[in-house]
Amino acid sequence: MTLEEKAGMSTLFEPVTLGPLQLPNRVVMAPMSRYRSPEGVPGEDIARYYRRRIEGGVSLIITEGSWVPHPGASDQPNAPRFYGDDALAGWKRVLDEVHAAGGKIMPQLMHRGQTEEGPGGRGARRVGPSGMFGSLGVPLKQVDEPATLRDIEDVIDSFAIAAQSAHQMGFDGIALHGGHGYIIDQFFWSATNLRTDEYGGDIAGRTRFACDLVREVRRRTAPDFPIMMRLSQWKLHDYSARLAQTPQELEAYLLPLVDAGVDIFDFSQRRFWEGEFGTDMNIAGWARKLSGRPSMTVGSVSLTNDMFDSFMGNASNVADNLAELERRLDRGDFDLVAVGRALIADPDWPRKVANGANADIVPFQPAALKELV
Ligand SMILES: Cc1cc2nc3c(=O)[nH]c(=O)nc-3n(C[C@H](O)[C@H](O)[C@H](O)COP(=O)(O)O)c2cc1C
Repeated sequence: MTLEEKAGMSTLFEPVTLGPLQLPNRVVMAPMSRYRSPEGVPGEDIARYYRRRIEGGVSLIITEGSWVPHPGASDQPNAPRFYGDDALAGWKRVLDEVHAAGGKIMPQLMHRGQTEEGPGGRGARRVGPSGMFGSLGVPLKQVDEPATLRDIEDVIDSFAIAAQSAHQMGFDGIALHGGHGYIIDQFFWSATNLRTDEYGGDIAGRTRFACDLVREVRRRTAPDFPIMMRLSQWKLHDYSARLAQTPQELEAYLLPLVDAGVDIFDFSQRRFWEGEFGTDMNIAGWARKLSGRPSMTVGSVSLTNDMFDSFMGNASNVADNLAELERRLDRGDFDLVAVGRALIADPDWPRKVANGANADIVPFQPAALKELV
């Protein structure tokens, strides 16, 4: 059965139109860092890797996190930049391959903020709202001066420059990393944002950085250029952290972001079937309901183990959880489904699922992270 024939039988394979974005189905590749871009330049192998996922039936790719042009954005070797002629030429090749295969693609733009201690690579100063740093199991502490208003302007400018490049190059939108404890999330969260100026304080103050950033991105791109934003309750250094304790708090974060110009919310969680706020509906469902904007879910789709388990080096088998996914999709909880590790393991995942060939899906092995197929 072709993916198109499957559309009438499964919402996952039904087309969807989100503003100017027309997608043949709901399967999106989740952003996943592969650290295979020497000197920050994505090569032909990366272009081939993304194209292969479109050929397997993915409708939209969110690229691995790519760094905005700010000195403190990242110093990770082999992670791709989204600036500089060499890196942008590499991304152009990725874009052309994905478009040639009939797919859509948005770069994920990110800045790590204060997720590490000490001076960054190339001597760059780390920047965060209040200089707070914590790592897994280590409580947050202030290790640096809070970002100045000039720092804030510079970081916003760096996101806007990268977004402008993406727009001019012909990408289908951009995905802003506003989750996992990176810089945008550091401003959102009360434990990392202790500021008393207009960028801190209540939720409105803590959301101002993201809103200013989105407005600037919108101003330098186009009124209809799709802007997706990833959010999460959990943080890299604290999996049990929660950004919003109640639907009212979540709404207070989301509505200003909608007003600023976010088109689609991507709510990152580890297991899509886990409900939020004591209900059956997951966080992407709540985001859609409260914001009135489309949303995307993610988390262990067709896998038995979650992402952290994979980072611990464990394999993940193929799980029978797609009926549960469809139930939520049919109910209108979310519009898109991001698939992560399952697509690293098996680029043909969408076609196999559409054909009911679940038995043929390749299970995820951590070794798959070491190669780019
Ligand atoms: C190897 C790997 C790298 C990742 N890198 C990123 C990243 O760069 N940006 C991001 O927002 N999430 C990243 N994630 C999280 C994924 O986007 C996704 O939310 C997570 O893997 C859960 O989906 P899954 O259970 O289908 O794998 C990464 C996950 C993995 C496994």
